Amino acid sequence: MTGEVLSVRDLVVRYRSHDGQPFTAVNGVSLDIGPGETFGLVGETGCGKSTLARAALKLTPFQSGQVRLLGRDLAELDGRELRKLRRRCPMIFQDPRGSLDPRMNVGRIIGEPLRVHDLAGRRDREAKVREMMELVGLPDELFDRRPVQLSGGQQQRVGIARALITEPGLVVCDEPVSALDVSIRAQILNLLADLRDRLEVAFLFIAHDLAVVRHLSDRVGVMYLGRMVEEAPVEDLFAHPRHPYTQGLVAAILHADTGGHERLQLVERLAAGEIPSLLDPPAGCAYQTRCPYATDDPCRIVVPAAEVVAGAADGEDRSHRVACHHWAEIPAPATTLEPGR
Ligand SMILES: Nc1ncnc2c1ncn2[C@@H]1O[C@H](COP(=O)(O)OP(=O)(O)OP(=O)(O)O)[C@@H](O)[C@H]1O
Ligand code: SF4
Ligand SMILES: [Mg+2]
Repeated sequence: MTGEVLSVRDLVVRYRSHDGQPFTAVNGVSLDIGPGETFGLVGETGCGKSTLARAALKLTPFQSGQVRLLGRDLAELDGRELRKLRRRCPMIFQDPRGSLDPRMNVGRIIGEPLRVHDLAGRRDREAKVREMMELVGLPDELFDRRPVQLSGGQQQRVGIARALITEPGLVVCDEPVSALDVSIRAQILNLLADLRDRLEVAFLFIAHDLAVVRHLSDRVGVMYLGRMVEEAPVEDLFAHPRHPYTQGLVAAILHADTGGHERLQLVERLAAGEIPSLLDPPAGCAYQTRCPYATDDPCRIVVPAAEVVAGAADGEDRSHRVACHHWAEIPAPATTLEPGR
């Protein structure tokens, strides 16, 4: 699609395990992120979220598929052009402290991308850094401090300021709050939500937990074992989850919200079983080993393709897609959330 900040088509990334066995970590994934849009990507550990994000910036090579980033086809770029493009697509990481150079002070860390890419002279740089510190809620007197002198939340604010200082087109946030104390998490999520509203920047926001992306994302994609199983506008995904796996995730949030016993049973029914190994993935649908609706044919034979979900009132809604053979017959759980809840 043209005009997208990021457009990924049929992306396949293969790795080798330590004993040399090849496996597919990202298996035919497509997604689009429009200008200023926040795309939340969720799924259990090891399902390929970080690999997808890294491949989208070509920090990890991909075996097939197409990636267009800020209008450029990654396959057509040489190393120099790629580095130039990446500076407009910074990443924010899970471990804020580990991603900040302990020898530099806060002001230098935040301004470093401007220096490295030669985007501003020294004076301008300092002014921009102070402006950015204010934007992310860092008191000015922290300018000369080192990362070790900051709290976890402040360190993550430094990471965010550094990512935003080059006026990026896309910011990739890879689990930016999961290493933080629960009390700090909400503050950082609120900050990101505020920045999302104030700045013209698109976010790819990765999290384990659907609850984390819920208040931040315009659209949400759910991955399972290397595949995108469902993708929809956030309200739609919460109100009408179609894939059994998504239904389980949504029900789990609801259970956390209310603690109802009935709901817990639903969660257990929908999410029972181990996640299969990527080294020996199930035939057919990746979710068939855990899915209460699985049938021998086609579920255990044919990989379900992504289908557009037909909206009830307003015809086809191209923006809601699900990869499940039986999505149209699966009953919507009675416990799904109402939009806006
Ligand atoms: N460089 C690598 N070489 C080999 N295997 C890798 C490499 N990076 C990741 N993997 C494996 O690929 C799979 C997908 O990993 P990835 O880090 O993308 O998952 P994730 O969804 O980000 O998980 P998490 O939520 O734990 O961060 C996992 O099985 C992981 O062990
Ligand atoms: S394709 Fe079959 S096994 Fe896979 S999620 Fe749908 S019903 Fe379950
Ligand atoms: Mg990851």
